[in-house]
Amino acid sequence: MTPLLLATHNTHKTAEVRAILGTAFTVSDLTSWPDAPEPEETGATFSENAAIKALAASILAGPDTWVLADDSGLEVDILGGAPGVYSARYSGRHGDNAGHRTKLLAELALLNARGHDRRARFRCVLALAKAGNIVAEFEGSVEGHIAPMERGTGGFGYDPLFIPDGACASFGELPETTKNELSHRARALAAFSAWWPASSPGCP
Ligand code: IMP
Repeated sequence: MTPLLLATHNTHKTAEVRAILGTAFTVSDLTSWPDAPEPEETGATFSENAAIKALAASILAGPDTWVLADDSGLEVDILGGAPGVYSARYSGRHGDNAGHRTKLLAELALLNARGHDRRARFRCVLALAKAGNIVAEFEGSVEGHIAPMERGTGGFGYDPLFIPDGACASFGELPETTKNELSHRARALAAFSAWWPASSPGCP
């Protein structure tokens, strides 16, 4: 099993990455580095922010450690792609997921958004780093729409509001195993897994 450091303090992300990657990797995260400074996510894109997080964690962890950083978020078409890279701080308070969901529903109500006007997608960009360099980047997305109200308590973040195409339930209602088959993160990780044995130097 290859050790892999996930550049996040978000234990929901870590749990999903562990479940999706299975036994090929031993996944740890930054909760094992309580003193690690959190880099400011100053990028204008998911890609830039993933690179910022991957490089900061790679420098911290040293040259022998593979580091993967996930930058992800929700894009709502009628809001011009918002909250996008600001998904984690949409309501003004970083990590206030209930506040973010309330604000999103309020914005859509203000616009009287119904049906197709509620189109949205989750996007995930993964940056892979080693020895202070970005080695590769992987992307995944899942299309869907925003529910009229919160549905379910599973998952995290915007999950209770997001109904993926082809489903009649939100990510907050669907079993974890279903989200981990369909999600933006699952698709980006599938690209990472497909790349890994073929391209990584010193691969197993
Ligand atoms: P990041 O940690 O800067 O990548 O912030 C990502 C934010 O996007 C999270 O705090 C969530 O609000 C949202 N997000 C990303 N992925 C998911 C997901 O799988 N479900 C629900 N919300 C997500």
